[in-house]
Amino acid sequence: MQTAANPIAERISTISVSSTSRVAAEAERLRSSGADVVDFGAGEPDFPTPDNIKQAAIRALDQNFTKYTATGGTAELKKAVCERHRLDFGTDYKPSECMVTVGGKHAIFNLTQALVNAGDEVIIPSPYWVTYKDVVNYAGGRCVFVETGEEQGFAVTAALIEQHITPRTRMVIVNSPSNPSGAVVDQGEFEKIFRLTSERGIYLMTDECYCKFLYAGEPFSIASHAGAKETVLVAGSLSKTYAMTGWRIGFALAPEAVIGAMMKLQSHSTSNPTSISQKAAVEALRGPQDSVAAMLAEYRRRRDFVVARLRQIPGVRCAEPQGAFYAYPNVVVAIGAEGIRNTLQFSERLLAEDQVAVVPGEAFGTNRHVRISYATSMKELARGLDRIHQFVVRHS
Ligand SMILES: Cc1ncc(COP(=O)(O)O)c(C=O)c1O
Repeated sequence: MQTAANPIAERISTISVSSTSRVAAEAERLRSSGADVVDFGAGEPDFPTPDNIKQAAIRALDQNFTKYTATGGTAELKKAVCERHRLDFGTDYKPSECMVTVGGKHAIFNLTQALVNAGDEVIIPSPYWVTYKDVVNYAGGRCVFVETGEEQGFAVTAALIEQHITPRTRMVIVNSPSNPSGAVVDQGEFEKIFRLTSERGIYLMTDECYCKFLYAGEPFSIASHAGAKETVLVAGSLSKTYAMTGWRIGFALAPEAVIGAMMKLQSHSTSNPTSISQKAAVEALRGPQDSVAAMLAEYRRRRDFVVARLRQIPGVRCAEPQGAFYAYPNVVVAIGAEGIRNTLQFSERLLAEDQVAVVPGEAFGTNRHVRISYATSMKELARGLDRIHQFVVRHS
C-alpha cells in the first residue's frame, strides 16, 4: 500500500498538543515507574462529585435513560441551565438560546467554529488558557494577544483591548477568573469591555468556567447587562463548579441564530452529551448548592497558604489570585542560570530533579511564570512547595 505524501490533513497542523496534557503525561510516566511525584499540573478539583449528583446519575441508569437525546441537550437540562443562570446572575435566557455541550471546551470550540471566518481577528488576553489559541487557529482566524501586566494581577482592561481592535476584529475572549493567573476582571471594567465591543458589533465571549470561584465580591455575568444578549456569548461548564470534570457537561448561551449554527456542527460531530450526565447535571443545577461554597472556602485556605509560601522563596514573586484555583508565580530568578533557558526547561528540570509537576508559562503565552494548581490537598501543597523552594535556591 502506498502512503499518502501528506498523511495528515493540513488543518491539523494549525493546532498543537496542549502543553498541559504533555506535563500530565510525563508526570504519569514517572509516577507509574514508582517516582513520588507531587502533581500541581492538573486543572481539576480534587473533590469528588457531590453525592446528590451521583445519585441522580444512578437513578438515570436504573430508569434506562440511556438513549440518544436531542443534540443540544434535553429540554429539562436547557431549562435548568437558564434558570440557574437567571438565579445566579439575573439573566433571562430562553432554552432556545441555550445548548448543552460535551464540556465547556466543546462550547468554546463550537462557538469559535460557528463564528470565526478565515482571516478574522480574535483578541485574547495573555496569559491565556491554551485552548483559545488552537481553536481560533483551527477556524482559520488570527489570534491577537493582549499582554496584561503582572503588577495589575494580569487583569485585562478595556483600554488594553481597545488598542488592539481593528476592522477585522470579530471576537474578544475574556476568561474571568482566569486560568492560568486567577485574575478577575471587575464588574465596572467588564462593562467597559462590553460597551467597547457591542458598539462595534464585535462578539464578546465570556468563559465562565470558574465564575463561582471568586475570593472577593459577588460572582456576576456580563450577560446580565442590558442589551448584552446580542453580542455576548456565554461559555459555561459544570466541570469545576460541581467537581464534574469527567462527566463532560458544558453549555453555551447565545443568540438563537448562533445556537442554530452550533447545533448543526454538533449534530455532525458528538450529537448529544451523555444522557446520564445530563440527568446528573439537572440535579447539580437545581439541587443544593452548598458544596460550591464549601469548595470555595477550601480553595481560599489553600490559595492563602500557596501565595504566602511562594513569597518566602528568595526571588520568586506571586500576584495574588482573585479567583479560580491557580497561582502563577514569576520564577525568572531561576531562569538563565545553569542552562535553564525558559519556563519549559524550568518545569522539565523541576519534574526530573524534584518530582514536582507544574505547567510552564510558555503554554499560556508568557515566559517568566509557571502555573501551580492548588486543587490538591494541603499536605501535597506543603510537600511540593518545599521542593520548589529547594529547586529555586539550587538554581538561582
Ligand atoms: C478557562 C477554561 N475554560 C474552559 C475549560 C473547559 O472545561 P471543561 O471542558 O472540562 O468543561 C477549562 C478547563 O480546564 C478552563 O480552564
